Amino acid sequence: MKLLEGVEPLRRWREGLGDDVRVGVVPTMGFLHEGHLSLLQIARDHVGPSGQVMLTIFVNPTQFAAGEDLDRYPTDRDGDLEKARAAGADVVFIPATIDDLYPRGEGAWVDIAALSGGLCGRSRPTHFRGVATVVMKLWGLIRPDVGVFGEKDAQQLAVIRRMHAEFFLGGEVVGGPIVRESDGLAMSSRNAYLTPEDREEALRIPSFLREVRARFASGERAVEALLAGGAEAIAPGRLDYLEIVDAQTLEPVTEVTAPCVCAIAAHFGASRLLDNCSLAP
Ligand code: PAF
Repeated sequence: MKLLEGVEPLRRWREGLGDDVRVGVVPTMGFLHEGHLSLLQIARDHVGPSGQVMLTIFVNPTQFAAGEDLDRYPTDRDGDLEKARAAGADVVFIPATIDDLYPRGEGAWVDIAALSGGLCGRSRPTHFRGVATVVMKLWGLIRPDVGVFGEKDAQQLAVIRRMHAEFFLGGEVVGGPIVRESDGLAMSSRNAYLTPEDREEALRIPSFLREVRARFASGERAVEALLAGGAEAIAPGRLDYLEIVDAQTLEPVTEVTAPCVCAIAAHFGASRLLDNCSLAP
């Protein structure tokens, strides 16, 4: 496995590769778990054995607002490299410094405004602008054929898909299914902030999503009924949002008549956790 530390080594690698080798990329902020590693496998499935699977690791400061967890975001560089190698990555890119990706500081943004204001965007109004901007920078450097993103971050995936379409970026954006712990909790680097007690309580999230799916399976289509009792079911976790939105537009619906996502964000202890499930009539 090759390690590229900095934009210049990355450029040289990309130039040396030419345009005939397929490249699949999994952008991450590191502190890898099985969810990330499953995305590497999906990238491999798309580019084949002769393609190149790249993992990127960068805790992107522009997607964190003041007071969020940028300063304590968990990192494990050596562990990540070992996991990436064992999972079959061909190459890992880690920017040498923040300036490497932001050489002129902040001031140029990719803003997929149509999809960035609702759900997480309500409490994190500048978050998706930071995500779209860093992914656009990575795409300019890497020119991947396939980018793979986890479906746990459903809004992020929708934003990235829309960015691809709007800016004619070519290649493919692929979503990877949510990977869960054996007790149902969606894997997330931020699970590291949970105390054992918080972690136990956080199981209320997947448990309520199962309840929503059961209501849907028994024929319920009205959003109010599907989500009834959600806040109580999540307590003592504190809901940021619990919504059912159209899967494409992320607009809230009152009845599920087209593919939708039931999305939740809730605070347990020091962690803000995301999860979702699809509801397809
Ligand atoms: O999902 C993440 O880890 C990040 O938002 C991403 C896509 C790597 C951009 O920094």
